[in-house]
Formats: sequence, structure tokens, C-alpha cells
Amino acid sequence: MGASVPEYFFGTTDPALNQAIYSSSANEIESLCSKYLNKPFNECRLIDVGSGNGGVAEQLAKKAASVCGLEVVPALHQHAIQRLKKEPRANLNFTLGSVYDMPYKEEFDLAVFLTAIEHIKEHHLAIEKILQSLKPGGLLYLTAPNKLWPIEQHYNLPFLSWLPLWLANVYVRMTRKAESFEDASYSLTYFGMRKLFNRFDVDYDFVTPHNIDSEVYSCSMAKGKGLYRFAKWLLDRFPFFWVISKGFIVVIRKK
Ligand SMILES: C[S@@+](CC[C@H](N)C(=O)[O-])C[C@H]1O[C@@H](n2cnc3c(N)ncnc32)[C@H](O)[C@@H]1O
Repeated sequence: MGASVPEYFFGTTDPALNQAIYSSSANEIESLCSKYLNKPFNECRLIDVGSGNGGVAEQLAKKAASVCGLEVVPALHQHAIQRLKKEPRANLNFTLGSVYDMPYKEEFDLAVFLTAIEHIKEHHLAIEKILQSLKPGGLLYLTAPNKLWPIEQHYNLPFLSWLPLWLANVYVRMTRKAESFEDASYSLTYFGMRKLFNRFDVDYDFVTPHNIDSEVYSCSMAKGKGLYRFAKWLLDRFPFFWVISKGFIVVIRKK
């Protein structure tokens, strides 16, 4: 992570929309993961890796036995701490640190890793550390954009993620979007994801959202809900279409 923190790490500028996204994300995680977990969600110990300003972790803490939010950027960690000061919760804590240095061994039932892998260079090390933190049979719930989606989702520029980094950097500078694209440049394709997970002793499924109407999925697709429904229908029947889907939700089970 470079010295400057991209603004989008802090969420949208609309507090009500942020709140709706955090709570619908937590609802979605609970309903989807409950199908795969071997104990009730409210008995599970969770870790949110790359927890940002702590909004999702806070909502998850209302549903789970405990939640630890791990974040590497001090300014975001501070946001999370302020959040906790406003509404203290004994089962929620925020830790400043990198996924690469996670010290946990078989402590958690569920790890969530939400739109963070595309910001992380060492994918293998990150997944290895997260899996080490899970109990046997524990789950990793991961969301990520698809590198092949034609409109890059952080800077809204066509084909940005298809370019080599040096050219992508020129592109974001010329369009005055940012000084560098590096912060969001590590997204993977469907086959890249599969190759990564195949290197671990895990089972995994690419899954479509449980609640398609939730704020978290509809906010960027408000004008195209019908299309979104059709995409879900297509992916549920013809998994080949994951290759060109907008993004991925992957549920990974540690053996
Ligand atoms: C796009 S934000 C997503 C934040 C949050 N997961 C959410 O969905 O609202 C990506 C987050 O990953 C964090 N991150 C990047 N590199 C990291 C690392 N090495 N260890 C832990 N977190 C990291 C960033 O600081 C940022 O908060």
C-alpha cells in the first residue's frame, strides 16, 4: 500500500447509503455462509480482513459471537476505533496490522475478505495467512472484482485493468483520476482465482448473491436490476459465464 490512501477506501460520501451497504453486506454474509457453516452463525468467531473503516465488522458483530477487524491503514483503523467508541461492543475489536503478518492459528470459524484481494500484491501469502487463522472446516468468504470486466470498478475507466501497470498509470494520470493505479491493480481473472485456490487444501464454490435486492448489490446496478437478475440466472445455470462476470463471491472451506 502506497503512502496515500485512495478516497474510495473510506466509503461513499453518503452516510445513509454507507450504512445500508454495511448492514446488507452483513445480512448477505450471514444468510449465505449459514448454509456452509457447521454451527449457528451467532456462535461463530469472525475475522474481517481489510476491514476498512469497520462498518461491515460492526454490523457482523450484531450477529456473531465475536468479530475482529484487521486493517493495515492507520487512518481507517482510527475510523473503526471511533465507531467503536460511539457504540461500544464487547464482542468487537479492531487491530492495526497487515494480512501478511496475521499471527492467528485456528482461531476463527469464518474470515471475510471483502473487495480487498485486488489491493494486495502477495495473494498466495495473504490466503495462506487467512487459512491458518481458520479452524479446520472454517470458511473464507471472499468478494472481488473480475479483472476482465471492461469497466474498471475503482476508477470507472474502460479497459483500465486490462493494461500493463505502467500504461494504466499513464491512463489514470491523463484522466486526472489518480497519480497511480497500483493500489487497485492486483485483481484476478476467474482462472487466476481458481489457480490461486487450487494451491491450498480447500474446497471452494463461486456463488451468486443470496439476496439480489440488497443495497450492497443494487447500489451500482440501480439502473440495471433486470440485467443483474438475468446475470444471476445465467451464472447459476451456466458457470462458464463466471469468466466474464462483473465480480466474484467465493466461499472457501478449509479441509
Ligand atoms: C476497498 S477496501 C474494502 C474495505 C472493506 N473490506 C469493505 O468492504 O468495506 C480494501 C481494504 O483492504 C485494506 N488492505 C489493503 N492491503 C492490506 C493488507 N496488506 N492487510 C490488511 N488490509 C489491507 C485496505 O486498507 C482497505 O481498507
